[in-house]
Amino acid sequence: MNTDETVRTFTDFYRDRGHRLITGSSLLPPPPDPVLFTTSGMHPLTPHLLGRPHPQGRRLTNVQRCLRTTDLDEVGDSTHLTVFEMLGSWSLGDYGHSQSLRWGYELLRDGFGIPPEWLHVTVFGGDGQVGPDTESLRTWQELGLPVELTEDENWWSNGPVGPCGPDSEIFFWTGDPGTPPQGTPTTDPRWVEIWNHVNMRYHRHEDGSLELLPRPGIDTGMGLERLVTVLQGQRSVYDTDVFEPWLRLLLPLWDLDERPMRLVCDHLRSSIVVIGDGVRPSNTGRGYVLRRLIRRLLTTLRRDDLSRTLTDLPLELIGHTLDHFRQSYDPGTVRELLLDEELRFTKLLERGQRVLSRPEFKGPLSEDDYHYLHDTHGLPRDLVAGLLTTG
Ligand code: ALA
Repeated sequence: MNTDETVRTFTDFYRDRGHRLITGSSLLPPPPDPVLFTTSGMHPLTPHLLGRPHPQGRRLTNVQRCLRTTDLDEVGDSTHLTVFEMLGSWSLGDYGHSQSLRWGYELLRDGFGIPPEWLHVTVFGGDGQVGPDTESLRTWQELGLPVELTEDENWWSNGPVGPCGPDSEIFFWTGDPGTPPQGTPTTDPRWVEIWNHVNMRYHRHEDGSLELLPRPGIDTGMGLERLVTVLQGQRSVYDTDVFEPWLRLLLPLWDLDERPMRLVCDHLRSSIVVIGDGVRPSNTGRGYVLRRLIRRLLTTLRRDDLSRTLTDLPLELIGHTLDHFRQSYDPGTVRELLLDEELRFTKLLERGQRVLSRPEFKGPLSEDDYHYLHDTHGLPRDLVAGLLTTG
């Protein structure tokens, strides 16, 4: 099943059960939301999970692009991406958690053909404030799946305040398919989380207190690229059809090892999507996140060959990415922006090398040195640190 078919199977399943397919939002939460980027499918629906009626009703489904930079160091492994898509389903004060889990199980088993023996689930076991989620425990026991109870791992919120509640996560066994699964999700990393069903029962306030919501909701989110990896029997997201054009076109161009190549593909793809949503590289806020992504990928790209350049990036990949994310942006303009940023970075590096070669910067740098390099020469601390380690 390819990625498009996977999305269709998911949204059709929920549409057949009375959910309206809503259009995913851009990566940029609308003002006055202070958050830089949307990090989960529920993010744009926050007011509705807190009780405001949604114009499309009480059962919703969609696919939402998200950006997470919290796991940057893990990008390049087999599952982490900066931009990813989340398949979501919501009950806004309509059906309850047990129904959500039952449908989730039905879709994985019958819709996607995943053998139940390869699934394990976790359930909230209770903490000092909230009791154990016995309803989910009972539901999974009736469905016959192995359950592990946890505390911190099974509580979901999208920040310090807002809607939150106990969740139940579904894991898939990624170990050798020839031998039965072992251990549990918290004891064996070969259990990979694929789907989270959150019982949004509470509103957390500034003072940390929890208020029961008058109409609890359900929020589920499943990482599309991870699901596709599982369904296509691949060992990493980069081996799926999502990245097929990337590796086909970039491998002959840039002879990078596996992990750096993955990072370059991930960051380039994310940079294109972020630009496609209207962000420009800058020194603050969203633009700075974009700038850091581009600089990280350039640093990796050129690490052992300074002649590698984004000038060689095929326009086809930019167009393919914009199409996939349904962004009506001109690929040529995205390319120009990337090349401008590359040029700016190259000049900054040259200036940095020149300045740092002066005798006063031999030996460890002081805080004053860093301030001087930043304020007088426009050299950010991380760039100086990078130049010092690479010589
Ligand atoms: N909002 C939940 C998550 O992102 C479903 O895991």
